[in-house]
Amino acid sequence: MIPKLNLCCFILSFVFLCLSAQYVPPYTEECRSGMYPPNGPTFEGDVSWYTVNLDLPPNKRWTDVITDKKKDMVSMIQAIRDLADAFVPSGKLIDLVDKDLPLMVDTLPYPFNEEIRGIASVSGVSLGEVVLFNIFYEVFTVCTSLVAEDVNGNLIHARNLDFGLFMGWDLKNRSWIITEKLKPLVVNIDFRRNNQTVFKSTNFAGYVGMLTGIHPHSFTLTMNERFTLDGGYIGILEWILGKRDGMWMSFLTRSVLENATSYESAKALLSDTKLLAPAYFILGGNQPGQACIITRSRTHSISPLELDVKNGRWYVLETNYDHWKEPLFLDDRRTPAMKCMNQTTQAVSVATVHHLLLTTYTTLMEVSKGTLESYIRDCPNPCMPW
Ligand SMILES: *[C@@H]1O[C@H](CO)[C@@H](O)[C@H](O)[C@H]1NC(C)=O
Ligand SMILES: *[C@@H]1O[C@H](CO)[C@@H](O)[C@H](O)[C@H]1NC(C)=O
Ligand SMILES: *[C@@H]1O[C@H](CO)[C@@H](O)[C@H](O)[C@H]1NC(C)=O
Ligand SMILES: *[C@@H]1O[C@H](CO)[C@@H](O)[C@H](O)[C@H]1NC(C)=O
Repeated sequence: MIPKLNLCCFILSFVFLCLSAQYVPPYTEECRSGMYPPNGPTFEGDVSWYTVNLDLPPNKRWTDVITDKKKDMVSMIQAIRDLADAFVPSGKLIDLVDKDLPLMVDTLPYPFNEEIRGIASVSGVSLGEVVLFNIFYEVFTVCTSLVAEDVNGNLIHARNLDFGLFMGWDLKNRSWIITEKLKPLVVNIDFRRNNQTVFKSTNFAGYVGMLTGIHPHSFTLTMNERFTLDGGYIGILEWILGKRDGMWMSFLTRSVLENATSYESAKALLSDTKLLAPAYFILGGNQPGQACIITRSRTHSISPLELDVKNGRWYVLETNYDHWKEPLFLDDRRTPAMKCMNQTTQAVSVATVHHLLLTTYTTLMEVSKGTLESYIRDCPNPCMPW
């Protein structure tokens, strides 16, 4: 029996952290150029590749990744604990992680529950901490995703990902530390079945959902958080309270990457599957004109935005605000990014898109070539990570 109220408080605390993460100063950087392929002082390195064999039982799939990354996972978990302690100094949050979160794994769907157990047993990190890790990403990230069509009809899908910065200096410093701890956990993964690539993803070691991926020659997919209080995190609370009819967002992304075979079928699943919380899915296909932003409430897709090259919409871009609304003026990452895209014109390439995105990690995908490449960036403190 899960001590439900405690868990609810726990989740709500993180939701609050997450919402406060939005209040960052305005972003005014000029369009950059000449930084691709990445080099110079802000370039920290390429991301290493691992294989996850989907033919193995779920609890064995992550052994190679986690064996390599367990030290970094322990260090990351400590940073999240410190953040939780700074936020609720009584230590109550941490008690919850140790006592209550392990029980939550039983409520998660297969194969995610088994994969999380496997990760805990290989890493030496406790089960509660691995669950924390997985929930933490689910509610805590900010990002920009875009799909652009070049003059030849090729689709380029790019995303960056970062954690929010906080208003309070101490929390800001701690969120900065978390960003630093995340970098060594960024991995590229080739998911294989029958020794063939099914999909490729950039992810954090220890996280079983997906935020970014490519099903080569079929579609590309990224997910961005959608912060709304109306119906927002209620689904996660309902899950804890026992009403479990929605899907975790990043689990849906993973399932679609793993099991959908076309742009159309991916689009239908992402538009119609009931979710625990709102989200944005940014989907690109393998034909000219196939790209869309799916803005999800828990139950349905609202006002989908599609490419419309004939009428001048040769790219779609999503940050963490509904495309039909003005972004929060304190966090307008959309206007500068669009300004740069508009300057680029449709003579767009992986190189030009890369300039837009400066962050913890940037991923660039080209569906026609089946490629996924990722870069980790160094962004000096105080940092404007997008
Ligand atoms: C941020 O926190 C770390 C570890 O707590 C500390 O070493 C560092 O001096 C802090 N940085 C600033 C600028 O306060
Ligand atoms: C899997 O494919 C790779 C090349 O793609 C090959 O080197 C390897 O031997 C194959 N492994 C198995 C078990 O068939
Ligand atoms: C994908 O489909 C297979 C076969 O139905 C299933 O065993 C697997 O769990 C699915 N993967 C995910 C992530 O849902
Ligand atoms: C970019 O171009 C689009 C399409 O022409 C236009 O709607 C949008 O306002 C422009 N945005 C900026 C920031 O220039």
